[in-house]
Amino acid sequence: MRLKGKNILLGITGGIAAYKAAILIRLLVKEGAEVKVVMTKLAKEFITPLTLATLSKNPILVDFFDPENGQWNSHVDLGTWADLYLIAPTTANTMGKMANAIADNLLVTSYLSAKCQVMLAPAMDLDMFQHPANLKNIETLKSYGNIVIEPESGELASGLEGKGRMAEPETILSNVVEFFTQKKNLNSKKILITAGPTFEPIDPVRFIGNYSTGKMGYAIAEELANQGAQVILVSGPTNLDIKSPQIKRINVHTAQEMYETSISKFPDCDAAIMTAAVADFSPKVRFEEKVKRGKDDLQIKLKPNRDIAAELGKIKKENQLLVGFALETNNETENAKKKINTKNLDFIVLNSLNDKGAGFGCDTNKISIIDNGSNKIDFELKSKHEVAVDIVDELIKRL
Ligand code: CTP
Repeated sequence: MRLKGKNILLGITGGIAAYKAAILIRLLVKEGAEVKVVMTKLAKEFITPLTLATLSKNPILVDFFDPENGQWNSHVDLGTWADLYLIAPTTANTMGKMANAIADNLLVTSYLSAKCQVMLAPAMDLDMFQHPANLKNIETLKSYGNIVIEPESGELASGLEGKGRMAEPETILSNVVEFFTQKKNLNSKKILITAGPTFEPIDPVRFIGNYSTGKMGYAIAEELANQGAQVILVSGPTNLDIKSPQIKRINVHTAQEMYETSISKFPDCDAAIMTAAVADFSPKVRFEEKVKRGKDDLQIKLKPNRDIAAELGKIKKENQLLVGFALETNNETENAKKKINTKNLDFIVLNSLNDKGAGFGCDTNKISIIDNGSNKIDFELKSKHEVAVDIVDELIKRL
């Protein structure tokens, strides 16, 4: 029962290999997986929904809605329910749609909404497989992070011999099992991460905030989850979504809320990464009513907020790691080193607003990592996803 507790959405498209989907469902169910099936209209010509519903013990989904009663089959719900979306067989037609977001059936809309890993088992005739357009689509789909189970060579339905036959159900099963059981570096680790800005209320409609979008913190949270960690993401207000079910997001608004949540969660964690742009000050008094326009200057007195990183630094145990961020405009390295000491950090990720492509809102970042022994590594300008991988690698080395 190597797949016990796993939700697998099986997509079946219209090729002769669809008949093998029945065997595949049996293998998945035997391993303990919960299987739901979504098919294209053409796939129904190759294998009946009744067979698949009987084997998967779930109704088969084909249309966007049930014409009898108008009930919607939500592709968004399917996309969030699944731990893995396996499409087997995947025809050249469906791969073309997937690579170009042509969302004209439930199977492809579910793909575009999927928050989980997607795995494809292409099946087609050898000339179709080798056509540059098809190979380009496969490369595009791989570049989006989809896993492609290579088709096998052998006798094809056309009578020709060559590469294009869908991998055997047993091979597909091995790929699925490997995906769920592969060794991940942060399995059994629990990691706290703060992200985004904090909003400090002035009155019921106004606040003091900052330009942080949370992108860097969210990218790190996703990478931690990719590496098998349980992630607690304490997030200030952002417009971002999380993909991985292993990330538990706790939404907060103010620095005080972020402090309270972080301090209560940290003792159970193996590490904390402080990416949030926490407001250093908040209004001393919050006006109960909206402040009206007036002729005189308006003065708002600010009081300092707690330094969350430094507070975690005080209660940090020997087996815990604490990572900080520093966004600096001048004397960058010197300032970052000071923060390592005052906050009791193990290492700090430094980015300078003087570097093009680094800082708020960009999709790229250029960082240096400085540790508490003053070792410094400088990285190139990279996408925030790649930067997240570098930071998480550094954490793994030290955990
Ligand atoms: N930090 C925090 N709580 C605060 C302020 C900062 O947890 N109230 C964390 C940030 O998430 C970051 C690190 O401390 O990981 C450094 O943040 P930064 O704003 O650069 O440092 P400050 O201590 O606020 O120093 P300054 O703004 O004066 O440079």
